[in-house]
Amino acid sequence: MKILITGASGMLATDLVKCLQRDFELVGVDVRAPQVPEGSFKRFYNTGGDPIQGPKLWEKIMREQSPDIVFHAAAMTAVDRCEAEPELAEALNVKLTRDVFQAANQTGAHFVFLSTDYVFDGKKEAPYETEDLPNPKSIYGQTKADAEELVKTGAKAYTIFRISWLYGLYGDSFPRTILEKAGQAGHFDIVHDQVGRPTYTVDLSGIFCEIFKAYTANAAFKKRLKGQIYHLGNDGTASWAEFAEFILAQAGLGSTRVNRIATPPKHRPAERPKMSVMSLEKAKRDFGVNPRHWHEAAGEFVQSYQKHSGASLGKK
Ligand SMILES: NC(=O)c1ccc[n+]([C@@H]2O[C@H](COP(=O)([O-])OP(=O)(O)OC[C@H]3O[C@@H](n4cnc5c(N)ncnc54)[C@H](OP(=O)(O)O)[C@@H]3O)[C@@H](O)[C@H]2O)c1
Repeated sequence: MKILITGASGMLATDLVKCLQRDFELVGVDVRAPQVPEGSFKRFYNTGGDPIQGPKLWEKIMREQSPDIVFHAAAMTAVDRCEAEPELAEALNVKLTRDVFQAANQTGAHFVFLSTDYVFDGKKEAPYETEDLPNPKSIYGQTKADAEELVKTGAKAYTIFRISWLYGLYGDSFPRTILEKAGQAGHFDIVHDQVGRPTYTVDLSGIFCEIFKAYTANAAFKKRLKGQIYHLGNDGTASWAEFAEFILAQAGLGSTRVNRIATPPKHRPAERPKMSVMSLEKAKRDFGVNPRHWHEAAGEFVQSYQKHSGASLGKK
């Protein structure tokens, strides 16, 4: 079973590769070098300097590799930058997605698309279900919602996974910023009126590994996955302020005060959903997964971060 991963040098994909390489043949594609040894891949395409951009590049790669699954993690993920550069966001989140799934269609690969809580407006007072209607409030959310629609109508075999509040050792994320700034900051002002599911890339990668193993072993499972949307993440919920307090306490920095504040008007260029919690019930039912509580995962993250003196990890 061969899995092609786009955005293979990114934060989630790096942990995913570490997990998948034990059981699968992997092909990576990114515009920059991988954060794992290149030997982790059967073939790695660094397309940063490739003059053949657009559909032809992806058709060539699919023809050469003929993967069973395409895991499309490549995206423009800096949500505030998407507001400033909407055309680039459209190119990387919508057009790139279309080019990749159309090429996957030609060789019969199952297309896995990663979407986000930002497709919702965040006004619901309960966790979002997979069938709730998107109503994005930011360019990032709009481009991801547009890409979801294209995938649903144009990809021959697909599954959409919406994820949120991701952090890991191999990219910029909220808990890393807290740990990096805690030394200089006597206190933080952090919003307490936005809630979500802090989700560790290691845990999410483990879930994807189990899903792809079941996909390989079980034809009925493979059939069931087709054309579905799932929400994935760690269990439990938190506000950003609660998340920061927990990270600081785990790192032995509990004396750094967190002031819990309400989101100020025009706080950041991209509007953040107030309610980012997405229900995990469908994934629990269909996959039998039982994600651990985010406390346990975040505690482990802090330990790994401190062990690797993480400040240098995942920097471009
Ligand atoms: N992080 C979150 O909280 C979160 C939440 C919900 C959904 N997601 C989705 O989950 C996926 C993975 O997220 P992540 O946080 O791991 O993202 P990430 O670290 O930004 O990884 C994305 C990777 O894709 C690369 N890339 C950009 N354009 C490309 C292209 N044309 N061809 C090949 N590679 C390209 C990026 O390179 P450069 O960095 O050099 O541009 C980066 O290495 C994304 O689709 C994201 O939208 C993330």
